[in-house]
Amino acid sequence: MTGSKRIVSVVTGTNSNLGLNIAYRFLESVPPDVRVTLIVTSRTLPRVNEVISKIKNYHDNHLKRAGTLDFDYLLVDFTNMVSVLTAIYELKRNYKEINYVFINAAQGVYAGIDWVGATFEVLRNPLKSVSNPTYKIQKVGVKSADGLGLVFQANVFGPYYFLKKIQDLLSAGKARIIWISSLLSNSNYLSLNDIQLLNSNVSYEGSKRLVDLLHLASYNDLNNANITQYLVHPGIFISLSFLKFLNVFSYYGMIALFYFGRLLGSPWHNIGGYKGANAPIFAATKADPKFDKQDVKYGSACTIKGSEFIKISPVDNSDAKQIYSYFKELELEWDEKLKDQIADTRKEYP
Ligand SMILES: NC(=O)c1ccc[n+]([C@@H]2O[C@H](COP(=O)([O-])OP(=O)(O)OC[C@H]3O[C@@H](n4cnc5c(N)ncnc54)[C@H](OP(=O)(O)O)[C@@H]3O)[C@@H](O)[C@H]2O)c1
Repeated sequence: MTGSKRIVSVVTGTNSNLGLNIAYRFLESVPPDVRVTLIVTSRTLPRVNEVISKIKNYHDNHLKRAGTLDFDYLLVDFTNMVSVLTAIYELKRNYKEINYVFINAAQGVYAGIDWVGATFEVLRNPLKSVSNPTYKIQKVGVKSADGLGLVFQANVFGPYYFLKKIQDLLSAGKARIIWISSLLSNSNYLSLNDIQLLNSNVSYEGSKRLVDLLHLASYNDLNNANITQYLVHPGIFISLSFLKFLNVFSYYGMIALFYFGRLLGSPWHNIGGYKGANAPIFAATKADPKFDKQDVKYGSACTIKGSEFIKISPVDNSDAKQIYSYFKELELEWDEKLKDQIADTRKEYP
């Protein structure tokens, strides 16, 4: 971070449990006298308005900061490259530097829950059922309107393209990029023959594996451009986007199992989004690249009593180079497709 008196920070998917808590904890962690401009993102304006009023309320009522907090927003859908380009254009037009970006927005293509499978899994192995569940049914082969694998584009390629095209702003701000990965990003979730995850029934997990590999392959290049990138995961917490598949019994059942998981010794059952945001905020505001390695994943963890701590996990780097090459080639393809997209429509005609 520069010694400037203004901090500009982007949190994608801000109106999610984790996004909101990243925003709260970020404001708690930066110097209290500094002006902060928080750029929130959502696909819709009502959710932008809602999240701004929640953060403003938290700031005004729970924090003692002398520095101003102001807001900006981007209406961006990462499954739509024109929308991504518009967000890039807006940032370039309005900012000279950006200091932090949290890549938090993500989605899966869920069809529901296999309740029979879920019951067996809970009975057979309760800890696994709430740590690495296999009963969430994901649709296979879903493409975006851009013709890309939807989860691939939403969670990895869209954000990658966004970051690449604002790199000059990030360099100017000596920025930190924080990629939110997951516990569930093992190498077996991804095949090099299916990088867009179109044949996968675990596309969400595969997309998080891609995030890990992309980070490993790119952080050195970014260091050379004065940008520090870290990979983190938030452990396990209540996700608001999955609530639509639950009723009141399964919701409280899930929470009870989360506590049970913690009781059985899992360090990952943070349950609340606030604890989940510990690693993202550590990586953004406390980690020092001289001592805190960048080739690992920083996880939000907690003890049986719920005291939070950071737990570091190694990341298997096989295939990272191939993945990076694939992204660079796809980036060039989209540069070509989008090159005439933003035109000066207000020019005077002779
Ligand atoms: N819940 C967990 O236990 C857990 C575990 C590991 C990792 N994570 C990761 O933590 C992060 C946050 O999770 P969460 O459960 O708090 O989030 P969530 O409820 O799933 O919400 C995700 C956010 O992403 C945005 N989003 C979704 N699709 C998008 C798209 N195509 N374009 C732009 N924005 C999009 C949504 O914004 P709008 O609806 O406002 O547009 C939403 O606010 C995600 O990266 C998730 O993978 C969660």
